[in-house]
Amino acid sequence: MVMTEEAFDVVVVGSCMTDLVSQATRLPKEGETIHGHKFFIGFGGKGANQCIQAARLGAKTAMVCKVGKDFFGDNYLQNFKDNGIHTEFVGQTSVAATGAASIMVNDAGQNAIVIVAGANLVLGSEELQQALPAIRRAKVLVCQLEISPGTSLRALRMAQENNVRTIFNPAPAIAALDPDFYRASDIFCCNESEAELLMGWSVTSVEEAGRTGRELLKRGCGAAIITLGPQGCVVLAAQEPSSPAHHVPTTAVKAVDTTGAGDSFIGALAFYVAHYPTMPLKEMARRANQVAGVSVQTVGTQTSYPSKKDLPADLF
Ligand SMILES: Nc1ncnc2c1ncn2[C@@H]1O[C@H](COP(=O)(O)OP(=O)(O)OP(=O)(O)O)[C@@H](O)[C@H]1O
Ligand SMILES: *[C@@H]1O[C@H](CO)[C@@H](O)[C@H](O)[C@H]1NC(C)=O
Repeated sequence: MVMTEEAFDVVVVGSCMTDLVSQATRLPKEGETIHGHKFFIGFGGKGANQCIQAARLGAKTAMVCKVGKDFFGDNYLQNFKDNGIHTEFVGQTSVAATGAASIMVNDAGQNAIVIVAGANLVLGSEELQQALPAIRRAKVLVCQLEISPGTSLRALRMAQENNVRTIFNPAPAIAALDPDFYRASDIFCCNESEAELLMGWSVTSVEEAGRTGRELLKRGCGAAIITLGPQGCVVLAAQEPSSPAHHVPTTAVKAVDTTGAGDSFIGALAFYVAHYPTMPLKEMARRANQVAGVSVQTVGTQTSYPSKKDLPADLF
């Protein structure tokens, strides 16, 4: 049954991945089998990560994604339910396996990773059409690039046509991004390496991030945010290329594991846009910095994302 009456704060159209992580003293060579000392399975995928962070802050969320009709798919569905995420639009397919990332890590922290997007690439127009009643009533729609780019772009347009605010995270970055993505993004949010690939210039300083943000506005985004790790982020809020870039610094903390920090930031941003629609973007970014800053202080991806009860009351 389609519950067309339900209104969500945040709808994410995006990816789910199961991380299979093996730790060994060194990485194996081609054709070699070695013994490792630790193995764990983690929930990942940028879309799911961002949805989980928004939900933990108190957003009413729905995920639109595809997993396999397999053990990892069943497990991922349960993970969404455990986090209070609406799963009506989480489809299970028998034509591909749940997205998986096989990750090997050595004692020096270096890694080798194979990602098989699998079921994520099966998400298409038909599923978007089924989710239209939810997208239309959402306060915010969030997309990334771990599913087919055409599906992401269609979802963003669907949202805009229905006056739903859009947040787009061009990750993982592709150099030849369809220019329509810029126009479909009310907020375009990327990190330094993604910005470099899109701009063709280095983005490591606040100044370079400002220049990047102005170019993003010229390309048609409503607003731009470039995240800068311990330096916080740079925000350009107005729709004029001449608008000033604001550096929003953060309290740099000693990072234990930064995996998924960018997704924590975007999930938090989506929560603030949904709950405080008139709050200045700079203030939303300041608060999202605080949330993401907590996530880097413990290991894991979703396991490191804070809930409302773990955070200072002045962030709400
Ligand atoms: N050492 C740190 N101290 C405080 N905040 C941090 C630190 N590292 C990251 N952050 C917070 O996380 C946000 C996102 O970090 P970053 O720009 O590194 O994203 P990312 O590169 O996409 O993350 P990921 O490591 O998941 O790829 C930053 O804008 C900041 O708010
Ligand atoms: C930016 O995010 C990507 C994942 O999309 C990650 O691989 C990369 O390391 C990040 N870049 C920086 C500078 O943190």
